[in-house]
Amino acid sequence: MELSRVLLVGLLAVGVLFVKEALGIRLPDRNPPVATADHRQQHLEVAVFALGSFWRSEAVFGCLPGVVRTTVGYAGGNKTNPQYRNLGGHAECVKIEYDPKVIQFKQLLDVFWSSHDSRQVFGQGPDVGDQYRSIIFTNGSLEAGLASESKEREQTLSKSSLVTTRIEQLGTFYPAEPDHQKFELKRNRFLLLLMGNLPEEELQGSTMAAKLNSYCAEFCPPKIQMQIYNRISEIVKRGWPLLREL
Ligand SMILES: *[C@@H]1O[C@H](CO)[C@@H](O)[C@H](O)[C@H]1NC(C)=O
Ligand SMILES: *[C@@H]1O[C@H](CO)[C@@H](O)[C@H](O)[C@H]1NC(C)=O
Repeated sequence: MELSRVLLVGLLAVGVLFVKEALGIRLPDRNPPVATADHRQQHLEVAVFALGSFWRSEAVFGCLPGVVRTTVGYAGGNKTNPQYRNLGGHAECVKIEYDPKVIQFKQLLDVFWSSHDSRQVFGQGPDVGDQYRSIIFTNGSLEAGLASESKEREQTLSKSSLVTTRIEQLGTFYPAEPDHQKFELKRNRFLLLLMGNLPEEELQGSTMAAKLNSYCAEFCPPKIQMQIYNRISEIVKRGWPLLREL
């Protein structure tokens, strides 16, 4: 997987250089403003989950249809303004802004349960520590009800071990430092270039960046992974230097 990804990026980079040479295309430093759907006029809802390393959590949700924005951060602790090296009891979380006409809290819960091991104590996968604990944050009794129903269902599937997931009232969500946002995408300098090296703020709010962040971690469904791969290859081949939408 890792090797094929490296090869792909290498190939694409060579392709872009070739196209630049052949057509004299100059890659701009950044995109001109792009007309996108104005999400401020759309009614969006917010869900916050903790399910281990937030680098991974952001990639888990970023490719789902209806997910408009993802942000990693800290919640569930007591400290004001926590930082990565000083969490003060907070857990690593992902905040998901979604269009309830396309995806519902219930479906996000399904993805939450299927994307981590809720029975693991004091960590998740290779990551050890309290900051990786499993939490569903809820806002209001409707969400709290759906969350506890889903937890009960999960517990019946797991006869021998206890589901450790907690259900907590959503308090303050503190966004994490920029280095941690879209972490998987930021490791792929070629894709960042292809997007026009967006300024940090734009990158963090971008639906496409959320999707590409999932793509880089190979969390999109296989068909979508392939579509995005083809889209990128096509751009490189035709010499359209910028990826504006997927
Ligand atoms: C919680 O729900 C209320 C009512 O639906 C809404 O106004 C508020 O913005 C929500 N809070 C968050 C953090 O999503
Ligand atoms: C927050 O503070 C309360 C009261 O001091 C304490 O009981 C609780 O365990 C703390 N929570 C965390 C996550 O540190």
